[in-house]
Amino acid sequence: MGKDVIIACDFSSRAEVMSFLDRFTDEKPYVKIGMELYYAEGPEIVREIKARGHKIFLDLKLHDIPNTVMKSMRVLSKMNVDMCNLHAAGTAAMMEAAIKGLTREDGTRPLLIAVTQLTSTDEERMRSELLIDKPIDEVVMHYAKNAKSAGLDGVVCSPLEAGKVHEACGCDFLTVTPGVRFADGDVGDQARVTTPARAKEIGSDYIVVGRPITAADDPVAAYKRCMAEFIG
Ligand code: C5P
Repeated sequence: MGKDVIIACDFSSRAEVMSFLDRFTDEKPYVKIGMELYYAEGPEIVREIKARGHKIFLDLKLHDIPNTVMKSMRVLSKMNVDMCNLHAAGTAAMMEAAIKGLTREDGTRPLLIAVTQLTSTDEERMRSELLIDKPIDEVVMHYAKNAKSAGLDGVVCSPLEAGKVHEACGCDFLTVTPGVRFADGDVGDQARVTTPARAKEIGSDYIVVGRPITAADDPVAAYKRCMAEFIG
């Protein structure tokens, strides 16, 4: 199972992301492309970064009726991304349709990861706005189990939750974990963070790291530091 550091390339234009990636002459980091860059530049940016030899996590968090998600996933699988995601709240039927759409004729497919509850949704909002009365940890674990039963490969979660997810869903159910900071770095707007070394101990499979690398004076050195701490 490929443990890796994924760089969140939260840029708004092709020019910015390419000048960032141009700094990496010896390495080909795994890259996360989110909605901002995708909506700004379209599928061509995915193809271009892929053609440069990077693995791609396309973070578009699909959530729609099963048929629409199935057909959209079919398009993403043709773009040859390595990992993509959806909201587990779309139900098992939607997740199963997503797998069907994603699976290519030869049986291969990109990894499919579920978002359980967004970290911006706290227990109080879940109760008052979504009318979900259970404790948030229970909801997150329940959605993770739903994702596993539907055949997904893992969930996005806090590195602090990675151990619990593995206990509930098995060691080979992947945990893709943002909220990573160096011990001596800025926390920024992330509330619950941990270091790459600690994320490794808890059992994260992939750490997603944005600003500690993208905003560093020397992004390549910051990436190498992350890899050294997380992969060893
Ligand atoms: O810059 P930073 O390391 O905080 O970036 C983390 C990345 O992970 C961002 O792209 C952010 O949108 C994403 N993310 C997150 N928390 C989640 C889900 C995704 O920080 N729960």
